[in-house]
Amino acid sequence: MRPPGRRLSVRTRLTLWYSGVLLAIVLVISAFSYFMLHRSLIRDADVQLVMVGQVIRDAGIGEAKRSEAELHQILGPEFFDIFFRVAGPEGQEEGGSEALRGRPLPLSVEARERGRAGESTFETVALAGRERVRVRLLTIPLTREPAPARFIQVGVAFDEIDHALVGYLETLAVMVPLGLGLAATGGALLARSALKPVDRMSRTARRITAEDLTRRLALRGTGDELDHLAETLNAMFDRLEEAFAHVRRFAADAAHELRTPLTALKGGIEVALRAQRTPEDYREVLRSSLEDVDRLIRLAENLLILSRLRMGGPSPCEPVELEPLLMDVLDVGARLADGRGVTVRLGRVEPVTVEGDLSTLRRALLNLVENAIKYTPAGGKVELSVERDSHQAVVAVRDTGVGMDPADVDTIFEPFVRLDPARARDTGGAGLGLSIVRSIVSTHAGTLSVESVPGAGSTFTIRLPLG
Ligand SMILES: Nc1ncnc2c1ncn2[C@@H]1O[C@H](COP(=O)(O)OP(=O)(O)OP(=O)(O)O)[C@@H](O)[C@H]1O
Ligand SMILES: [Mg+2]
Repeated sequence: MRPPGRRLSVRTRLTLWYSGVLLAIVLVISAFSYFMLHRSLIRDADVQLVMVGQVIRDAGIGEAKRSEAELHQILGPEFFDIFFRVAGPEGQEEGGSEALRGRPLPLSVEARERGRAGESTFETVALAGRERVRVRLLTIPLTREPAPARFIQVGVAFDEIDHALVGYLETLAVMVPLGLGLAATGGALLARSALKPVDRMSRTARRITAEDLTRRLALRGTGDELDHLAETLNAMFDRLEEAFAHVRRFAADAAHELRTPLTALKGGIEVALRAQRTPEDYREVLRSSLEDVDRLIRLAENLLILSRLRMGGPSPCEPVELEPLLMDVLDVGARLADGRGVTVRLGRVEPVTVEGDLSTLRRALLNLVENAIKYTPAGGKVELSVERDSHQAVVAVRDTGVGMDPADVDTIFEPFVRLDPARARDTGGAGLGLSIVRSIVSTHAGTLSVESVPGAGSTFTIRLPLG
């Protein structure tokens, strides 16, 4: 369901925007061209008026009171719609066109003033009469006259200009909506074809589910933004597929790990129930069952810790002094190593503080120390050290134990990986310890690395940014 207020598709919005912008442009152009046409029509009329005015003046029609017919003879038929009159200094009629009978041309104050200065004046005026007629009027002074001047007024009705302008507006009224409609249709089609790949992509993406993450969006090979988007989404699907596979593997491994102690527990109980046993036998069964339950609890705890760490979320951040922490871990390590013939001791220790969570950092170090003790035979040594690099705290757990093949070094940080399963079964480890260490270190923006020589020992190093 689409949220209210966002009902328009991108295609419709694009088309609307496009049409809106086009409408604005067309309106501006139309207004401008209307204005230009208006101006050029008036200029043409003015040129005609000047010509006729000059003829009238030069032919002395005004003075000799020659007839209008004579004027028309001189000018030719295309000037028939032009009328004129000769006016006295105060605008009184002294002769003129038949067409003007009863409708005197006005002589404005401005035209009179300018005429007295020898200048002609163009005006657009309305003639009073039965119906208002707009006229373009040229007033020329008869300069040869001594003052007070007389005037020749030449006029042409605005009809033709108005007709031309109305015709132009009518054309615009038809052409603008038509053109706009065509352009909007074209725009909609264009937007549709441009967005078709997006439709296709979303249809494919909808089919990609947790059950079928193998599908990918097809690239069109154009190298454009949409191809780039498809590539980005495909890369995201790759990561999702990997993450899902990881989760499935993790769940399967966890189930497998849980089944082993549960099966042992069930087997022990079944055997005990099969016949009448002595109290000593029952105690033995319970003891071994308790071991399996302990193993299960430890596994469940580790799984919980790992999933909490992976879920992320803000971990408490406080200054953690590594020196006392190391002492504490050394203490626990010494107790663990007790009876195994392994010596746990301190190496170089510098006072260093980092930002982080004390209890998870303690867990990480304990896991490393526990491993070092576990994988070091009797007579071996485990050494803890903390130093300050230029911008890092470097915590190392060094042992003289069994070491690892360099090829295995990369895999040991994955969950449920044990290099020697037979021995691990004895020690009860599920292979989660180092995954937990890695998650803790990465939540502290640090790095975890290992150097190992088979048979000679390993060094696990945690580097953390200084607090
Ligand atoms: N210090 C070490 N020396 C040699 N091998 C090691 C050392 N630390 C880890 N390993 C190897 O890496 C594997 C993974 O270690 P990890 O701590 O994740 O699991 P674990 O110790 O077997 O079980 P858990 O920690 O869950 O009890 C171990 O099984 C072991 O083979
Ligand atoms: Mg371990």
